[in-house]
Amino acid sequence: MSNVTAVIGVQWGDEGKGRVVDYLAKDAEIVIRFQGGDNAGHTVINELGKFALHIIPSGVFNQDTMNIVGAGTVVNFDTMLGEIENIEKTAGIEVKNIFIDRRAHLIMPYHCLLDGAEEAKRSEGQKIGTTKRGIGPCYSDKASRSGIRAGDLLDEQWLRMRLEMALPRKNRDLEYYGLKTFTVDEIMAKCKAWKDRFGDYIIDTVPIVREAVESDKKILLEGQLGIMRDNDWGIYPYTTSSNPTAAGAANGSAIPPSKIGKVVGVIKAYSTSVGGGPYMTELFDEDGQKLRDLGHEYGATTGRPRRCGWLDLVAADYACYMNGITDLALTKLDILDTFPVIKVCTGYMIEGEYYNHLPDTLFQEKAKPIYEEFEGWMSDTSKARKWEDLPQRAQEFVLMIEKKLGTRITYVSVGPERDQLIVR
Ligand code: GDP
Ligand code: IMO
Ligand code: MG
Repeated sequence: MSNVTAVIGVQWGDEGKGRVVDYLAKDAEIVIRFQGGDNAGHTVINELGKFALHIIPSGVFNQDTMNIVGAGTVVNFDTMLGEIENIEKTAGIEVKNIFIDRRAHLIMPYHCLLDGAEEAKRSEGQKIGTTKRGIGPCYSDKASRSGIRAGDLLDEQWLRMRLEMALPRKNRDLEYYGLKTFTVDEIMAKCKAWKDRFGDYIIDTVPIVREAVESDKKILLEGQLGIMRDNDWGIYPYTTSSNPTAAGAANGSAIPPSKIGKVVGVIKAYSTSVGGGPYMTELFDEDGQKLRDLGHEYGATTGRPRRCGWLDLVAADYACYMNGITDLALTKLDILDTFPVIKVCTGYMIEGEYYNHLPDTLFQEKAKPIYEEFEGWMSDTSKARKWEDLPQRAQEFVLMIEKKLGTRITYVSVGPERDQLIVR
């Protein structure tokens, strides 16, 4: 079996992917972020400190691991610079083992402005609640073939030609929203500064990744967000503009699909969602507030309070199928320690009809969740390090999820720190 593992969010994001990648990266040769940009907020807590990673792959703390910002990503070099400086200051390490594939697209200042303006223009019920990091506008330019790629920074003449083609249209859009426009020279100056700082790290990653795959080295693929906000399979239009799935992992990282040996799905023991769109198990009661308080459910990128609810096993089952999940990492089990009753959603009623599968967005808007109740274990799990350390009812809860999803739960996380993880 191949030694490539993809780590995928199987809910609405913020499942704990950063913490799982940090754990698995200890002996990885390469970690590749394969899609998304600095809209991510991946929290890692280890012996070096506490970090919220946005575009830097979560393998950065292992000095022997090569970290790649893959071809499927969109990169804002200004925020990347700030992130690197922050890691270096807090962790006391030199961040130099990070490379950017030349095919990654660049988030330009106009993308961020347009993201904010487009979001402001959406009517109340249609708001996506984007992170305003320019993600959608940047991927739009990529799809319409007017994007600027990291590799373009290395060829001044070509870059100027690309900008001369792209900018008039961007300026027209900016003017439409009454925003500041840009000259080619202004953007060229910014690109020159980016090239001076990052030019040596912008490379064609294919030969390196291929060599690692063919010599069976351990490679981790780090996803951003989760399938419920996938642009094709999520709650469109309340999605991000890329594919956080296992298929997206292959595509965004130069790994052939058949070479992904393991797909680890990260799943919270309850659920959260940030931004707009349907979310069937959302709680508006004391239980919801308790999950938010105990789970510290506030965005790692925007600080927004996360919407909280019970675990949706119908959505999770869809996610397991769509991603071909081979192993699950169940996180935040400890947050349920003080709930006398825990619920899980096992079906929906939609316009009088019973559903045991996840329908498309407009049907989700009308769905009423059907819950099964589970008696809580009412004791502290955060100190458990082995399966046997978990209280019996907590074990039964984990086994119940495993059975309903037909997918092995290989990792159980009982706290945010690196060692608060049980491997079964
Ligand atoms: P990501 O975007 O998927 O990497 O997840 P986030 O970092 O945005 O959100 C997960 C949050 O839960 C972070 O604050 C983590 O430190 C925290 N966390 C992760 N796993 C656990 C766990 O098992 N227990 C507790 N209490 N916190 C966890
Ligand atoms: P991680 O990787 C949670 C949400 C936004 C918005 C939608 C589109 O930490 O799990 P975008 O800025 O991508 O155009 O926003 O997706 N969103 C996230 N929600 N965690 C994230 O990242 C997110 N990245 C984007 O709230 O609804
Ligand atoms: Mg996050």
